[in-house]
Amino acid sequence: MNPNINPTAQAVDNVLIYIFGFSLLLLLGITVATIYLVIKYRRSKYPEPTSEVHGSFWLETLWTVLPTLIVLTMFWYGWTNYLGLRNVPEGAMEVKATARMWSWQFEYPDGRKTSKLFVPVGQPVKVTMTSVDVLHNFFIPAFRIKRDTVPGMETYVWFQATEPGSYDIFCAEYCGTGHSAMITSVEALPPEEYATWAQPQPPSAEPRGLIVLQEQGCTGCHSLDGSDGIGPSLYQLSGQQRKLLVAGQSKELSIDEDYLRRAIREPEAEIVSGYDPIMPAYDSDTLSEEDLQAVIDYLLGKATVPAAPKPDASVLLQENGCLGCHSQDGSEMVGPTFKGLGSREVVIERDGKEERIKVDRDYLLRALKQPKVDLVKGYPPIMPAADYLSTEELDAIVEHLLKQ
Ligand code: CUA
Repeated sequence: MNPNINPTAQAVDNVLIYIFGFSLLLLLGITVATIYLVIKYRRSKYPEPTSEVHGSFWLETLWTVLPTLIVLTMFWYGWTNYLGLRNVPEGAMEVKATARMWSWQFEYPDGRKTSKLFVPVGQPVKVTMTSVDVLHNFFIPAFRIKRDTVPGMETYVWFQATEPGSYDIFCAEYCGTGHSAMITSVEALPPEEYATWAQPQPPSAEPRGLIVLQEQGCTGCHSLDGSDGIGPSLYQLSGQQRKLLVAGQSKELSIDEDYLRRAIREPEAEIVSGYDPIMPAYDSDTLSEEDLQAVIDYLLGKATVPAAPKPDASVLLQENGCLGCHSQDGSEMVGPTFKGLGSREVVIERDGKEERIKVDRDYLLRALKQPKVDLVKGYPPIMPAADYLSTEELDAIVEHLLKQ
């Protein structure tokens, strides 16, 4: 298999060109022959029939057999290529896709969920699909694949991205008001980038509720910034008054936890005035109690952001190449050793004068950010400034060094 040729796109294109080519050839041949004969044997030139042919065995056989063969080759070519689209190559990565009004969700083997489909370039990907509500259709024009997603049933497609890039995914089956907005993409990454992406994620800096909203595709209909969508915006909900229609009766209430819970679990019971009753219910199978709580907390502005993990100083020292010049065991290298740094005094040279100072937090921060200011006597001024490190990273390193 040529790695530069997209297998599914190629299969479909070849058949299309083959059938279209023959059709074009026949159309042109028949049209040209017809025009030629109509002009040549026009009545003004030949008022009487010029021949009395009543049949020709060979001609009739030829024009029966030849088209039959052509149509059979079209079938054969189409069928074998269709099998290529249905037979998933070995070693394909498996992703589950769930369609709902009006968003897509992709789930990877490790349980990770995204609303865009991330894949490595050069590896076949099998997408097993289902729908939780109505018929949708998974369509990636660039890879020429298209398949219905059916509630209560699994269907599949496979494809292989050959170039890194972003490829549109459309819903190609009319599925209601938000059908045309049911758009996402395949993000094809080079294998190394994909490997990085696929690594277990450090705890996200985003609140869990926001992640759930995105994973579940809520943001396809509800904006987060106050702009109008298919459903009401989720911007600053806390304390807002909402006009609702309950069983045809208008009523007003302020948004609180109970209301949001009802609006997600049984959205059809109370409809916000001005919107259609089209939101699907999210039962506990689709949205766990924990995730629901996270979403509600987020929407009411009560979400807490998980603390970012503290940077690991020993990893930083290694990654930034510090250990190439500074030993940790007291041995002499290009720069002073880290051993015993916390309880050491150093002799520095400043403006040509020697000075003895105690190593402390301030000194170490200066030494990291402006290493040429307080140069330790006897060492060359070659250390690069570590000003590209974040404050947290610098703090972690200083704290670590003081304990040496
Ligand atoms: Cu989903 Cu159209």
